[in-house]
Amino acid sequence: MASIIEGYLGKRVDGTKSRMPARLDRWQSWSGLILGLFIVGHMFFTSSILLGQKAMYLESKLFEGSFFLDTPQPILVSISAMIVLILFVIHAALAMRKFPYKWKEYKVLKTHAFSLGHTDTILWMVQALTGFVMFFLGSVHLWMMISIPDKIGPYASADRIYSDHMGWLYTLLMAAVLLHAVVGLYRLSVKWGIGVGSVPREGRRRNKKLMWIALAFFAVMGYSALATYWVSGYHHRDQYGERYRPPSTPLTAHTGDPS
Ligand code: HEM
Repeated sequence: MASIIEGYLGKRVDGTKSRMPARLDRWQSWSGLILGLFIVGHMFFTSSILLGQKAMYLESKLFEGSFFLDTPQPILVSISAMIVLILFVIHAALAMRKFPYKWKEYKVLKTHAFSLGHTDTILWMVQALTGFVMFFLGSVHLWMMISIPDKIGPYASADRIYSDHMGWLYTLLMAAVLLHAVVGLYRLSVKWGIGVGSVPREGRRRNKKLMWIALAFFAVMGYSALATYWVSGYHHRDQYGERYRPPSTPLTAHTGDPS
């Protein structure tokens, strides 16, 4: 906490310039990079439902360790989700240092963004807003993944989305997450000069174009997956709680409990 305060003030107790702001900034970038890449992977993993229920089932068992354990263990999903939650909280705490706390600061930022038409400042504001939304909605989702990791699968997830009404939360969370992750990765590429090349202005423009393409791609894939779970949950509503069993898996198969 003391280091966050020192990082915020930019000065040591003796009044000399602190290196802490730069260090905290680096931590914020690294935690953001890891979370951003996690989200890219996550979107592909949950979208396995587009390949069919069996594909999603096998993939959920993979995360429970089916590739090295005889009996898959949902606790492995809890542990991963706990690590993501810790990273998520650290990243949010570091980002909060830069929020405009006073009305005057906010007005300056808004003028910079809109009156001067500074797109990167607008993108920063989008990140601050989506980060705020994600903190609440993402925490609810992560807590579920930590506490009921055994209830992940083609039927269990579809039941949660349709019958438990989580689909509405996911609709909002997905918009915030995709914007936040894609804009965040673009901002990192500019900050660290990744893929910018020898003409920075052109490189930035190219990366921004890639950012919009990635956003459109993940939005189409993510919302299609969500809609698939939703429709499946609707058809499964009278068998709520029943777990999926892949057609070729005998009751005694070593893939563990069906979900
Ligand atoms: C290790 C941690 C995580 C696990 C195991 C996990 C797992 C899942 C699963 C299984 C679903 C399908 C629906 C369901 O079963 O409820 C899902 C959906 C979703 N998750 Fe996560 N999640 C994790 C972290 C996150 C984080 C950090 C975010 C963003 C803050 C996030 C955002 C979403 C969104 C927006 C959806 C709905 C869209 C979709 O169906 O792809 N998840 N997640």
